[in-house]
Amino acid sequence: MDIFNRYAVQAYDRCELLANISQDPACVDRRYLTPQHQQVNQQVALWMQQAGMKVWQDEAGNQWGRYTSNTPNAQTVVIGSHLDTVPNSGKYDGILGVMTPLSLIQYFHDNQVALPYHLELVGFGDEEGTRFGATLLGSCAVAGTWQERWATLEDENGISLAQAMGDFGLDINHIKNAGRGDHSISSFIEFHIEQGPVLEDQDLAVGIVSGIAGANRFSINITGQAGHAGTVPMSMRKDALAASSDMILAIERIARSQDIVATVGHLQCKSGAVNVICGETAFSLDIRSTDDEHKDKVVGLIIDEITLIAKGRKVDIDIKATHQAHGVKCDQQLQVKLANALKASGIEPYTLSSGAGHDTMAMAKICPVAMLFMRCEKGISHNPAEAVSISDIAVATQVLAEFLVNY
Ligand code: HGY
Ligand code: MN
Ligand code: MN
Repeated sequence: MDIFNRYAVQAYDRCELLANISQDPACVDRRYLTPQHQQVNQQVALWMQQAGMKVWQDEAGNQWGRYTSNTPNAQTVVIGSHLDTVPNSGKYDGILGVMTPLSLIQYFHDNQVALPYHLELVGFGDEEGTRFGATLLGSCAVAGTWQERWATLEDENGISLAQAMGDFGLDINHIKNAGRGDHSISSFIEFHIEQGPVLEDQDLAVGIVSGIAGANRFSINITGQAGHAGTVPMSMRKDALAASSDMILAIERIARSQDIVATVGHLQCKSGAVNVICGETAFSLDIRSTDDEHKDKVVGLIIDEITLIAKGRKVDIDIKATHQAHGVKCDQQLQVKLANALKASGIEPYTLSSGAGHDTMAMAKICPVAMLFMRCEKGISHNPAEAVSISDIAVATQVLAEFLVNY
């Protein structure tokens, strides 16, 4: 594993460097089709070229590199993850899943390792979905599941996705050219931090992902009646913020009782002032489970309950579905190959499921998929406290090397 140490340091240092490319100097915040996205793609393209890769950016703004095989009619294996972040994010969610394979390919290049297949590395432009609400935009474009209706999605400044693509130098009408559903990809593997506490609890550096939880996301608008905080009697109020609070606690209560995860991560009080009864709110809802059927049942329970609360409080409720992804099972054969790579690296194979969503969910539409997780400190993620160790990155690099060389 020592041979991979310096490549692990390189991957770690590059995550540190990319973390400085942010729209907010006070934290890591890099969103789809922004100047920061462009800057990161250019930097990653340079590193890819240094690793002997051919590079290109596709019509969805994903950054690609190809480590070409000289085997005639070689298949193509794709490895990668996302280069965008949530606001106030850590430095490794997604990013490490591009930097680690990139440094491994640098090792292949330095040591003239020839592979019997083309190895492509992709840095997806949007996995988090935090700019336009819909998520997995980059990988959906590659998987051919891009939805026309996304063109009119707007960010918090009212810029549409179509406009943002134009500003980025792309044409949304050509998005279909990013599609790779032509069986040109034989498999997709994603390396990613676990973003949970299981591997640390098992004292394991890496683990094999069995499957990824499905998710439903909604944006919910509550419209009541703004009023004077001093003059409107409590019994006559249509307080959108109080109604939203009732709903948010009901969502938490139902999720706990149904053993599912449901999160309201964003709440906007549109007429926010200390002496104004809130007339309008907007909040997000994210519901997940590895059991799609159960998830769909609980989505129904939650929607019925918050609609009832709206009625009782005489406020209007508008519920818009912004994302739906079914749970995904990872390919059995690829899991076996990963297990063999772990054993060859002296690690007992351990399998776990993913509560977090990943680009792998989109890529599963067009090819067999696999994921390798690496532990992160206390399982913390979507948080600047996200932390990893270089020794774990070196272990993961060795496992990925074993997997790719013996694919
Ligand atoms: O939300 C997720 O699960 C992922 O981090 N985008
Ligand atoms: Mn991620
Ligand atoms: Mn994330």
